[in-house]
Amino acid sequence: MQIVRNIADLRAAVAKLRISGDKVALVPTMGALHAGHIALVDAARGRGAQVVVSIFVNPTQFGPNEDLDAYPRREAADVALLEAAGAALLWAPDVAAMYPAGFATSISVGGVSERWDGAARPGHFAGVATVVTKLFQQVTPDIAFFGEKDYQQLAVIRRFVADLDMPIEIVGVPTQRDDDGLALSSRNAYLSPDERLVARALPRALGEAKAVIERGGDVAAALAAAVARLGEAGFSPIDYVALVDAATLEPVERLDGPARLIAAAKLGKTRLIDNLGVEAP
Ligand code: PAF
Repeated sequence: MQIVRNIADLRAAVAKLRISGDKVALVPTMGALHAGHIALVDAARGRGAQVVVSIFVNPTQFGPNEDLDAYPRREAADVALLEAAGAALLWAPDVAAMYPAGFATSISVGGVSERWDGAARPGHFAGVATVVTKLFQQVTPDIAFFGEKDYQQLAVIRRFVADLDMPIEIVGVPTQRDDDGLALSSRNAYLSPDERLVARALPRALGEAKAVIERGGDVAAALAAAVARLGEAGFSPIDYVALVDAATLEPVERLDGPARLIAAAKLGKTRLIDNLGVEAP
């Protein structure tokens, strides 16, 4: 796997990949890779594409009191995982390559990015949309793969790709989970052993609410029960537990189409998010 760190080398390397005639796939990441990221690479390879992975811990999507400095960085281990997974190219720019002096542009997506994590983390989705737009301009992929674990992020990316007529297919890949159901996340590394045990209450609370709602039970009561369960387990604050339309992320009071149960809550210093698809009964 070739590793490139400046735009000129990236463009030359992508041009070489295109000689094969295969599609070029992009898997954007912030590193600290786990099986969830490798599932994205596998999905891209499953489409017969040459896979470019980016690793860039994007400062513009972190709020002032968030974990930018503490965010795990372990490039050597990431490279080994990507080589084993068959990625063709690693794009690993530094902050100066991505945001040179004088950088002054931001992509702001209305609607789908405004509620939930958009409200809890002001500026976060503008940071994500800006860096992903840059990555798309740099790599010029035919297809790009994102985990469904960051469900609102996926919806925001689908929105601006459609709005800006970007000729890129966006593929969402199902969340990878540990044996006890906890969604894989680079941030799980922050959890103490005790917190890690408590963390499984999040997928369980969502699973119970999903079962109630899919049986035709009352949505508000199911959401309130999930919030109570998370509170009892020790999550605080609970930013949201909501049933939303799967495409617009607007709240849904009665299930009459594709919907998603979404949640975000803090356990100690670690903020966890998760979501599940909900089918109409
Ligand atoms: O999901 C992530 O890891 C990041 O938000 C992304 C898409 C790589 C943009 O920095």
